[in-house]
Amino acid sequence: MKIGLLKEAVPGETRVAATPATVIQLIKLGYDVVVQPGAGEAATFTDAAYAEAGAVAGDPLDADIVFGVNALSTEQLDGLREGATVVSLLGPAMNPGLVEDLSRRPITALAMDAVPRISRAQSLDVLSSMANIAGYRAVVEAAHEFGRFFTGQVTAAGKVPPAKVLVAGCGVAGLAAIGAAGSLGAVVRATDPRPEVADQVRSLSGEYLSIESPEVEVSATGYAKEMGDGYKAREAEMYAAQARDVDIIITTALIPGKPAPRLITAEMVAGMRPGSVIVDMAAANGGNVEGTVAGKKVVTQNGVTIIGYTDLAGRLPAQASQLYGTNLVNLMKLMTPGKDGQLVLSFDDVVQRSITVVRGGECTWPPPPVPVSAAPAAAPSARPKAEESRAKQPMSAGRRLGLVFTAAALLFGLVAISPAALQVHLTVFALAIVIGYYVIGHVHHALHTPLMSVTNAISGIIVVGAILQIGRDPALAGVAILLASINVFGGFAVTRRMLAMFTRS
Ligand code: NAI
Repeated sequence: MKIGLLKEAVPGETRVAATPATVIQLIKLGYDVVVQPGAGEAATFTDAAYAEAGAVAGDPLDADIVFGVNALSTEQLDGLREGATVVSLLGPAMNPGLVEDLSRRPITALAMDAVPRISRAQSLDVLSSMANIAGYRAVVEAAHEFGRFFTGQVTAAGKVPPAKVLVAGCGVAGLAAIGAAGSLGAVVRATDPRPEVADQVRSLSGEYLSIESPEVEVSATGYAKEMGDGYKAREAEMYAAQARDVDIIITTALIPGKPAPRLITAEMVAGMRPGSVIVDMAAANGGNVEGTVAGKKVVTQNGVTIIGYTDLAGRLPAQASQLYGTNLVNLMKLMTPGKDGQLVLSFDDVVQRSITVVRGGECTWPPPPVPVSAAPAAAPSARPKAEESRAKQPMSAGRRLGLVFTAAALLFGLVAISPAALQVHLTVFALAIVIGYYVIGHVHHALHTPLMSVTNAISGIIVVGAILQIGRDPALAGVAILLASINVFGGFAVTRRMLAMFTRS
């Protein structure tokens, strides 16, 4: 079968649905690829590069499968051959008119923005790919508008404080923004009604701002539900306080199927310092910020810049096209079981069913809901709840003291009845336990492996002993040296491997 790659008809669109690198992968799956001349121009991919990858220049509408980023225009749809399959973003939930138009045509339409958020479909999840890029770009846009460093510095000319960034919403775009702002050196704070994201925020060195409310609960779907008035009131207090303190706010809050929740009011914007910047990523969906204009940058009377760009992913066109193209290649891998260039659409597969808006002229939208679970599975536990919570209680100070006294009394008893030669060893042993307990107890868990390798090296003393004994029993001394060396060098080898995981290549 032939895959046709469109030059996007939407003005200002910079992305393209396949790059020379993804064309090579499509050809490996057995497809021929036809590229509309100039299709990749805006994303820096030349026609010559596509030709080198094995594609031919021609009319993509004449192909069996047509790849696009945006939904095809009416003229493009009119030019499709009967039985063609179009693959692009369609926004079927928001565009009933388009779904109706597509259903009137003898074609199959697959919506890349309808991929369900389940682990198996992650490699096809175009919305996540684009949100990841957009979150990063939101920080770049904010940094460009902001008239100061993100990172703090101490210079001969004075001290520069780090910029303070607040990220609202910690989904894909929010986490990308936290990572990007943190890597530029800013102090990053973030909030989200889903408490399970707190660890992800901290793992990116951000500070998670929790909002105490009985409504806050772990989401079973990976998406937030609409919060009640109690939560909204506390959230508003927090945003008002943060707006007075931070330099940059990036909002990414989204509740699927609803207009973007309004988080930042005009009053909060008025409370921000002049020169502050807000990037409202939800601008296309109504905006999280009062005063956002979709697709535009506006400056308020008090000098706050509000950016409402809706093409953030397209502002990194080569990267966005590469990730979008790879998502399409992964879809083709799923739908080409024979790797023979023949597309097979199977409704037994939940991913293929979910993205199919029209099949052979028959409307199949909306698909049946897909159960998704983002909540961590509860650990299996046979213990009753009361017993479990008792087990989690930290030991009381009195109990701990009692245990220490019992252990000390036992040791004294043991020393008293031991032969004189053993007494010294027992005392050293007991002291070693106490010192070891306090030393290791104060070392961070992440550093236990390096610590272990250093303590392992103490068994080097065995090597010294074995060398001294080598004249008496060479075989036994050799075995002792070998075993002790494995302990010493093995510990350092494990530590080295562990540290390599944190080294940038
Ligand atoms: P997502 O669904 O992964 O994340 C949205 C997050 O918002 C969720 O974690 C949710 O819990 C949180 N949220 C919901 N209500 C909230 C509230 N009241 N306060 C704080 N957080 C709240 O969505 P994703 O993929 O990260 O996209 C985020 C937004 O960025 C969407 O509106 C999307 O349309 C937009 N977007 C914009 C682009 C642009 O060029 N401007 C490009 C790509 C995405």
